[in-house]
Amino acid sequence: VHTLRDRGFLIMEPATGALTSGDVGKGRFPDTTEILAEFARLTERKMDLVGKKVLITAGGTREAIDPIRFIGNRSSGKQGYAIARDAVARGAEVTLIAANVQLPDISGVHTIRVESAAQMFGELKTEFPKSHILAMTAAVADARPLQMANSKIKKSDYTNIELAQNPDLLAEISSMKTNQVVIAFAAETSHDESQALQKLAAKGADILYLNDVSSGEIFDQETTFGEIFLASGSRIKVAKTTKDTLAHQLLDQALLQLG
Ligand code: CTP
Repeated sequence: VHTLRDRGFLIMEPATGALTSGDVGKGRFPDTTEILAEFARLTERKMDLVGKKVLITAGGTREAIDPIRFIGNRSSGKQGYAIARDAVARGAEVTLIAANVQLPDISGVHTIRVESAAQMFGELKTEFPKSHILAMTAAVADARPLQMANSKIKKSDYTNIELAQNPDLLAEISSMKTNQVVIAFAAETSHDESQALQKLAAKGADILYLNDVSSGEIFDQETTFGEIFLASGSRIKVAKTTKDTLAHQLLDQALLQLG
């Protein structure tokens, strides 16, 4: 061991406890979480989400009009994927419900692909009770066609679409909260703080990230800027930064609230 240390190897001390010989003392293989923590210390990577389950929704739902057309939105899923990457790197067990995202799967993340708000809702109901943190980055369509036509609607008949309101997935899911921490997102076309606070409360969220997308600088970009609102009343301004950095910051806040 001395020789190896002299050669620059990093040696972890064995743990103390019952040994296979029947003795009690120093010589046990350290606990996996200890090894991961040591690794994190050495690489300066935080492994502070070991044992935590993080659920994320990403992308934008599509509501079918007919077999060809749909109502959709411009969400790329990049912010949700950034949270998934950070959460898995910090040791969490991560489930990602992805709606119509054109991004490659993240190694170590359980990805469930969905298309519509109804499918996303179904998956959320199954996954949320098993989770510690929910990050609801998905842009959920607020309405869907009242009826989906089974065959292509001809242009002469394509004059109006009757809509039915979709449920607010986040508000419904938050009402099932036991002790999960819920992160909501609000993409607005203005920096409307009072609306952000209203949404935070209405959706039963603990943290809300508000971004003003009016400049077109956020959708499908690698960067973001906005403000984090906490249910406690505190706020944190986020100057232009990467979606990865914001992901890290949001998970830090969620972890603090999880206690
Ligand atoms: N959300 C949801 N279900 C919906 C609409 C939104 O779960 N039917 C979630 C989004 O995933 C996001 C948050 O609620 O985390 C805020 O979404 P946003 O579109 O800003 O809010 P809306 O409730 O749609 O409010 P409005 O359109 O009136 O601004």
